[in-house]
Amino acid sequence: MSYNIKITKIAQSRIKEVNLENIPMSKEFTDHMFVCDYINGAWENPRIEPLGHIPTHPGAMALHYGQAIFEGMKATLSKDGTPLLFRPKDNAKRINHSADRLGMPSFPEDLFIEGLKQFTALDKEWIPTQVGSALYLRPFMYADEPFIGMRPSLTYKFMIIASPAGPYFSKRIKLYAEKKYVRAVNGGTGEAKAAGNYAAAFRPSEYAKAEGYDQVLWLDPQDFEYIQEVGTMNIFFKIDGKFITPDLSGSILAGVTRLSVIELLRDKGFEVIERPIKLSEIREASENGTLEEAFGTGTAVGIALIEEIGNSDFFIKFPAENPVATMVNDTLNAIKTQNEEDKFGWIVEAK
Ligand code: COI
Repeated sequence: MSYNIKITKIAQSRIKEVNLENIPMSKEFTDHMFVCDYINGAWENPRIEPLGHIPTHPGAMALHYGQAIFEGMKATLSKDGTPLLFRPKDNAKRINHSADRLGMPSFPEDLFIEGLKQFTALDKEWIPTQVGSALYLRPFMYADEPFIGMRPSLTYKFMIIASPAGPYFSKRIKLYAEKKYVRAVNGGTGEAKAAGNYAAAFRPSEYAKAEGYDQVLWLDPQDFEYIQEVGTMNIFFKIDGKFITPDLSGSILAGVTRLSVIELLRDKGFEVIERPIKLSEIREASENGTLEEAFGTGTAVGIALIEEIGNSDFFIKFPAENPVATMVNDTLNAIKTQNEEDKFGWIVEAK
């Protein structure tokens, strides 16, 4: 289906006020936003407008019941200056998976991709070019019907905003193995990119930071033994030559970077196993010298090397050298800027 996206350009771009060489993380937004309304059972009026406040009724259901979901994506620039999207179809599918879990309408995949392309092309001056930098794209959907009762909203907004982003973690990170709070249980919303999942993680993350850690390592809600994921990432370990990552058990976010890393590693000839992983297994591997690498994967972080996992009961130190993770990071960055052939068909030009 072809869509007519109405474009209203900003009178004066703010790009000259921003230093893309030294980006204040997550604080700057580009000139425009994409907006689409869900009214009377259909998405209508897709448009790109100057970024601005959106009038919201205080009874809007997203504010009360958390009917809100989002995606994270990154746009990069090719050598010839073409804006590039990374696997946008995967994010289109995932937002609809999240929408279904939260009782929200699905958003047409082709409009999701077309909106992203036109929006990114319009704000392409905002795409930073330093290695590991990108324009972070934030598609999201929320319930805007003013209604107090308990049922899904009848109206929604789907929007895309964007923020230039430098490399997320420049040093190896320390993970706090959480032993009190939980992120997700099977059958809950852990598999969805629901706004509330992140709100519930804020306080535990603050506690972890106060203890000197960077992020929380979430464990299973029964025994606090099986590894789920990290604050904003999926997690991989290399033990005795093989990569293992927790399987998508129903409470883990199906990361697009996670999937890309699995595909890339397998393509390079590595064995990657998706299965439940116990924390005790990582401790044993550390003790018997078979623990080789550990890293997190996520859209915002890219690849984040892990220095330590611990809490007040124990700690595991990880090797400082992570040659395969570094190769994966470099390969992903090269594919995302078309400096390396995209034999996987991940890149979509935004023009
Ligand atoms: C992403 O990696 O895109 C995320 O959604 C993490 C974000 C909460 C910073």
